Amino acid sequence: MRSFRRMGNIRLMPTLRPFAPPDATAVAQLAAASPQAAQWSEASYAQLRESGGYAGWVAVAPDGSLAGFIISRTITTEAEILNLAVASQLRRSGIAAELLAFALENFTLAGVRRVYLEVRASNVPAIALYEKHAFVITGTRPNYYQYPTESAVLMEKLLTAPKS
Ligand SMILES: CC(C)(COP(=O)(O)OP(=O)(O)OC[C@H]1O[C@@H](n2cnc3c(N)ncnc32)[C@H](O)[C@@H]1OP(=O)(O)O)[C@@H](O)C(=O)NCCC(=O)NCCS
Repeated sequence: MRSFRRMGNIRLMPTLRPFAPPDATAVAQLAAASPQAAQWSEASYAQLRESGGYAGWVAVAPDGSLAGFIISRTITTEAEILNLAVASQLRRSGIAAELLAFALENFTLAGVRRVYLEVRASNVPAIALYEKHAFVITGTRPNYYQYPTESAVLMEKLLTAPKS
């Protein structure tokens, strides 16, 4: 678990911990309230840890509510970020940055050397977030998304093994 608060910000910040099946309802609700996020059923989240390679981390606000989450899938040395969202009233306070940094730390320690993702081309906040964490754009998939139809931007970040 990790607790954090921003310098100069007296508001208590969320605690980060691994996703657990009882988080499924809140995660599905937060995703549903974020149209740019991938939309999975609550049951998909509840069964997440039964499927090989899937992992997630959640940010929990001091009042116990879900502030944000990140979901990934790792296959040997590659990890895909499948979903990430932060509660709308808590955005721009560093929560996604903390979730992403936490996931990247865990990937590195698990031997992951390449992290990749797809994001809607119009999703300026998410693309800016990933670029700030040194993800680079590697291509696009035209008309990849539906409702509305839109291209996907492909991004990746290479990780280096921790020094022993
Ligand atoms: C994208 C999202 C997860 C960012 O969460 P957040 O907690 O607000 O992000 P942070 O506060 O950690 O911001 C980190 C950096 O991301 C970038 N960023 C975040 N929101 C931004 C915005 N609205 N406009 C421009 N840049 C933005 C900035 O570089 C920011 O650093 P700064 O605050 O020092 O400028 C959030 O907007 C969200 O939940 N969106 C809906 C779901 C979604 O788009 N998920 C991504 C699917 S791939």
